[in-house]
Amino acid sequence: EEDGYDLWLRYRPLEKTAQAQLRARATALVYAGGRGAIGATGEAAVAELRRGLEGMLGAAPALGASVKDGAIVLGTPATLPEAAALDLAPLGKEGYLVRSMRLRGHRVTLIAANSDIGLLYGAFAWLRAASTGAGVDFARELRSAPRLQLRVLNHWDNLNRTVERGYAGESIWNWWALPEIRDRRHVDYGRANASLGINGTVLNNVNSKPDILTAPWIAKAAAVADTLRPYGIKVYLSARFSTPLELGATKTADPLDPAVAAWWRAKADEIYKSIPDFGGFLVKANSEGQPGPQDYKRSHADGANMLAAALAPHQGVVMWRAFVYAHEKPDDRAKQAYDEFKPLDGTFAPNVLVQVKNGAIDFQPREPAHPLFGAMPNTPLMMEFQITKEYLGFATHTAYLGTMYEETLATDMGNGNGTVARILERGAGPKDQPRSLTGMAGVANIGSDRTWSGSHFDQANWYAYGRLAWDPRAGAREIAREWVAQTFSPDPRVTAPVVDLLMMSREAVVNYMTPLGLHHLMGTGHHHGPAPWVDDLGRPDWNPVYYHRAGRDGVGFDRTATGSDAVAQYAPELARRYADPRATPEPLLLWFHHLPWDYRMASGRTLWTELVARYDLGVAQAEDMRGRWLRLKPAIDARRHAEVLMALDKQLLEARWWRDACVAYFQSVSGLPLPAGAPAPE
Ligand code: GCU
Repeated sequence: EEDGYDLWLRYRPLEKTAQAQLRARATALVYAGGRGAIGATGEAAVAELRRGLEGMLGAAPALGASVKDGAIVLGTPATLPEAAALDLAPLGKEGYLVRSMRLRGHRVTLIAANSDIGLLYGAFAWLRAASTGAGVDFARELRSAPRLQLRVLNHWDNLNRTVERGYAGESIWNWWALPEIRDRRHVDYGRANASLGINGTVLNNVNSKPDILTAPWIAKAAAVADTLRPYGIKVYLSARFSTPLELGATKTADPLDPAVAAWWRAKADEIYKSIPDFGGFLVKANSEGQPGPQDYKRSHADGANMLAAALAPHQGVVMWRAFVYAHEKPDDRAKQAYDEFKPLDGTFAPNVLVQVKNGAIDFQPREPAHPLFGAMPNTPLMMEFQITKEYLGFATHTAYLGTMYEETLATDMGNGNGTVARILERGAGPKDQPRSLTGMAGVANIGSDRTWSGSHFDQANWYAYGRLAWDPRAGAREIAREWVAQTFSPDPRVTAPVVDLLMMSREAVVNYMTPLGLHHLMGTGHHHGPAPWVDDLGRPDWNPVYYHRAGRDGVGFDRTATGSDAVAQYAPELARRYADPRATPEPLLLWFHHLPWDYRMASGRTLWTELVARYDLGVAQAEDMRGRWLRLKPAIDARRHAEVLMALDKQLLEARWWRDACVAYFQSVSGLPLPAGAPAPE
């Protein structure tokens, strides 16, 4: 019975003809250089190929020494002289080449790379091809290298195993039992991430505690690092800026105080003794009550650079978050990160990345791309996406985020910068100079649930994130197709309809929650369900009314020159477009404009009528998704079909809840009658 634990690495038996074809191409497994040369990562590659072949064919060849027809050969230039002729240099350390070719007189499949981690990624690429059906056409050469250097998961996991914004059970980091007890699940976590090319993981919440940097916890983190190392995954920790002060080791946490800097240097040295390849620190500072350098009138750069200096001797990095806002500045929360960080461009140490959320508010179902992208040419910016669905219905609602990530990555930021994807890939500094650090972070949706992600479809978001971190130019639809083929079946009668369902899902959520650029209408604190009426929270910038600004006169947040002028943070061509309601894309209309209820939309309908129609459309789409899934019953294994159906049932209920609550609320404010044809609330 399928319970989802295997994720997309299921390797179920192929149908007969595909099996025969594959068997002829997997007669032997050869690690060039021989058994003696193989390290833990090479072992992982061989083990994965064996596991995959065993699953798909029923049996797998053992690791052998001699090349023969149909062999799969893994080799690097160091172990296989023939690899020198294959132009592997452009693949870098992590890229791979999979090619059908003649080797020493035999037809083989060669998996070649410059290092063992490249071989592991190549092995996964080959298995992906084989198990998605694409595979059976092995004539196509697979050649790929990551476009970003740091491809990282951010776990918002607390030390007591609760997970902030986690909807998939308790943390997989069994802190009580570590370091002695090592959970087998961490190996599977390593495999799953390596299959996507994820090469870093921050183990603990950005709202961090000093304890994580004390000896017992470093030992626990080291045990996790040992398990993940063969899979090419480095461990990072979230560091609380005031750690030395809170541990009583220093009298201040002022980054310019020599004793503070010395404490962090010694701490870094201590960590690297246990974790020689430790990745570095992720820091949330001066945001939502977290301590930071501004507590001492120092800048973000002062804080980040002090930590960077401690890590630099060990090649560690600092990922310094730009998610900052303070209610003392009530003007417009969306402007604050740019206002604080843009003036610091070029002042960060080379081993610092500034980690910027995809949008300027907070992981809403739809946000325009963050204005910082393209605005800090001399600072490497790292993308922060949220994989866990804090504002998109938790793990219950189906919302494939590949389309959301793609929308941001494909946004052209103007000023000759090109798309967000290109900005991330370029990093800092002039184009003709060696690249700086580059990277992408995803707030994980992983927990101890059997499905890992809290639902079957939420696994697709982990998958899509990983694939886009490897190649930010990849397409969401193709990624969905790959995922469905591996997770359910490569049969096009399954892939086509499930991919269509996924591709419509996020837009459905936008429609029934926050259409036309509305945002942050969610319930207080937990962020689940509608609460557009809330106006009495201690902080004005947490009240939904702050964001929608609905009244008799209209609805929406004026971010043009007559309002907060947030549009001025964008490059001129974007700013011009966003400043004019006629030129603003309708999906972002109320993000940038406060408009009267009788404003004429492109459809000819009034804004009021259009808004209600959007909410209705969202419900209709949720219904449609459910119907599509119902029709797939004969093609999907019973347990997963039933579990997904339950979630879609609940999603439909909650879509109606959202629509009815929001329409009723906005009607109470606009005073307008329901448009003719709008269904009565259910
Ligand atoms: C959101 C989220 C918090 C989180 C914060 C962050 O505000 O609700 O739980 O701590 O983002 O990204 O730091």
